[in-house]
Amino acid sequence: MPVSTIEWAGRLGGHVRMVDQTRLPLELAVIECRTVQEVWEAIRHLRVRGAPAIGIAGALGAVLAVQDSPAGTVEAFEDELRTACAYLATARPTAVNLFWALDRLQRTAAQHRHLGVLALKDRLLAEALVILEEDRAMCRRIGEAGAGLLRDGQGVLTHCNAGGLATADYGTALGVIYRAHEQGKSLHVYADETRPLLQGARLTSWELMQAGVEVTLICDSAAAEVIKEGRVQAILVGADRIAANGDTANKIGTYGLAVLAREHQIPFYVAAPASTFDLATACGEAIPIEQRPGEEITEGFGRRTAPHGVRTYSPAFDVTPARLITAFITDRGLLWPTFAEAIQRVLI
Ligand code: MRU
Repeated sequence: MPVSTIEWAGRLGGHVRMVDQTRLPLELAVIECRTVQEVWEAIRHLRVRGAPAIGIAGALGAVLAVQDSPAGTVEAFEDELRTACAYLATARPTAVNLFWALDRLQRTAAQHRHLGVLALKDRLLAEALVILEEDRAMCRRIGEAGAGLLRDGQGVLTHCNAGGLATADYGTALGVIYRAHEQGKSLHVYADETRPLLQGARLTSWELMQAGVEVTLICDSAAAEVIKEGRVQAILVGADRIAANGDTANKIGTYGLAVLAREHQIPFYVAAPASTFDLATACGEAIPIEQRPGEEITEGFGRRTAPHGVRTYSPAFDVTPARLITAFITDRGLLWPTFAEAIQRVLI
């Protein structure tokens, strides 16, 4: 990435700096968030998006919320932190990384309450930065773990954006592609445009072109034909939440690709860090699915493309059943079926 997707500017007393992804690919604009409300707004409106990046934004947003707290006691400080985390948790419901990061900050505060309010503020900023750095390292390990699954000359189809823009750096699904590319494999990536917000068109194709990876942008509805023509030997996507049995929520349209992969007998891989596995959620039906405003379909990017008054339905994510997934590519290695057991063994 030419600039960091998201970072903390300065020390305690600083602020959050992030790429405004709504302006890509026309403009690589960086915004500064100085209040927790600005971070909430950035998450809600997808200025920062992608499960791991949302988690990092949540953690940094919580620090912003409490760094100037006038609380005189640790109890009052913890109350403020709890309120801020509860607020940030309302920004988007599906990516579990947000809740995972907010829980982690609150647990850190509980473990270090003996430090007192002033030192706790420093400790929370340090923890949020550890979350960011860990994500960077996890993506590299995912890339390393998965690159061997891709062979020279293959066509790989991906959906939405699971790249450096969706993480601290490098990406999950795209991390695997970047690593294979670094190993000298020549891959041809087919990027679904990803209606309605076009993360594939605006972000994935931009990222891959920056990295010098060969990429062809296709309409979502072209995926079946492109696969039938024999152009794709593997499908590789990221995840927003993986239930304990392996059922996986990812960008709307992912489930259809998994069905296509099964029909055409090509592998369907999901790349994700440990922070995207939600062991408290037993199966896919229990994953909350975000509903997006209909205007994103009827007048996306400022141009009306449907009649006024038409009814819409716009789930932002779908759930791919575990039985359609060939393997998970994680920072702790590859997980093969049976996933419920593999997840327990590797991730606990
Ligand atoms: O709505 P978005 O753009 O936040 O959705 C993102 C995705 O669905 C990604 O595929 C997922 O978060 C994986 S990111 C490494």
